[in-house]
Amino acid sequence: MWHIVVSLTCTFNTMWKANTIIYCVSFKITKICNNPTNAAAILKGSFGQIPVSSIFELNMAVTILAIESSCDETAAAVCIDGQILSNFIANQTVHEKYGGVVPELASRAHLQNIVPVVDAALKTSGCALSSIDAIAFTHAPGLIGSLLVGAQFAKSLALALDKPLIAVHHMQAHVLANLIPAEKPAFPFLCLTVSGGHTQIVLCESPTKMKVIGETIDDAAGEAFDKTAKLLGLPYPGGPLIDRYAINGNPKRFAFPEPQIQGLNFSFSGLKTSILYFLQNAGTSNVFKEAFTATAEEKKKFIDENLTDICASVQYRIVSILLNKLKKAAKETGINTICIAGGVSANSGLRNALKETGNQLGWKTFIPAFEYCTDNAAMIAITAYYKFLENDFVPLSVSPSPRAAFNN
Ligand code: KG4
Ligand code: ZN
Repeated sequence: MWHIVVSLTCTFNTMWKANTIIYCVSFKITKICNNPTNAAAILKGSFGQIPVSSIFELNMAVTILAIESSCDETAAAVCIDGQILSNFIANQTVHEKYGGVVPELASRAHLQNIVPVVDAALKTSGCALSSIDAIAFTHAPGLIGSLLVGAQFAKSLALALDKPLIAVHHMQAHVLANLIPAEKPAFPFLCLTVSGGHTQIVLCESPTKMKVIGETIDDAAGEAFDKTAKLLGLPYPGGPLIDRYAINGNPKRFAFPEPQIQGLNFSFSGLKTSILYFLQNAGTSNVFKEAFTATAEEKKKFIDENLTDICASVQYRIVSILLNKLKKAAKETGINTICIAGGVSANSGLRNALKETGNQLGWKTFIPAFEYCTDNAAMIAITAYYKFLENDFVPLSVSPSPRAAFNN
């Protein structure tokens, strides 16, 4: 049962103009509790009758509908003043049998999913389309066909409703997923953003001012998980499965190498190669030795008998690569407020390691809820909210882009 509580501050001033006394009453919404949509709607309804012009000033809440379609998730969310009211995701299972995302199939699935997903997000939020103040969409980076579906849908809606349009960068949105909870990191903070296509350390000075200070020079952390899973014969996407098997494994059983990369950049392609050779040798020799000593049966038997330890050891190495660079970044910048984001931030090994390291080094750490780690539209909505506050809108002629710089 919802109870709506709205509290208002009211200022009352008088002034003289042309020998007439004018009473100026100004209201400001200071607190909307429990169901902000309904509260805002009630306010709109109550005050709609009153001439707002010179005697009445009302600060209304900002309601945003956001759409995410950069890869293989069709997602929609509604937020009001940065509070998420609904967050819907349609996962695409069509790719499973291909071992990876097939771009053409992803675009078609987005076309099928987008109307029901947006509809569900609106209905759950309790917001009518007419109460939406702006439409936001992911404009980059991603699969161009997938991006186009979300962008065209958002543009059509903005045109039909005569509402402003907000273009959001997917990687900036992953970072700002950390601003969704009530307890938010203070600026400046560092964010380790780890997804299927990116691995970045981002220095954030404000919601809209951020800079990538380190990134992968080859594979992303998510790719390292997914490619390892593929070598182990696990289905796509393998990251969550490796996480699940690793829980019961010994992370110190097999030693995979840590790359020596300068500065704050990452590399994961060497790790992938070492895992490949390790499995081809059925774990019998040095991980870097290129030898095909095991038959297919021996290799399969080795994997079956050691799956949990292999997963735990690979995960341990990926997490240690990520955290060592994060420690370096914190030391170099002197910033101790540390966030993680992106699909790989759902990994239990990374989440636990960040908390432990944070406790040891006196960091204040922030980890998004699971539903805000992997691709979602709530993160697009929160980013759009901050862009709305800066009047950062785009024209209907905007085009999505598969790659786009994100440093501000
Ligand atoms: O951010 P995301 O949903 O999509 C991209 O923007 O790429 O990230 C997807 C990546 C995939 O590589 C997936 O395997 C990985 O995140 N992932 C995980 C876990 N959950 C998702 N990796 C390791 N452990 C997990 N629990
Ligand atoms: Zn993502």
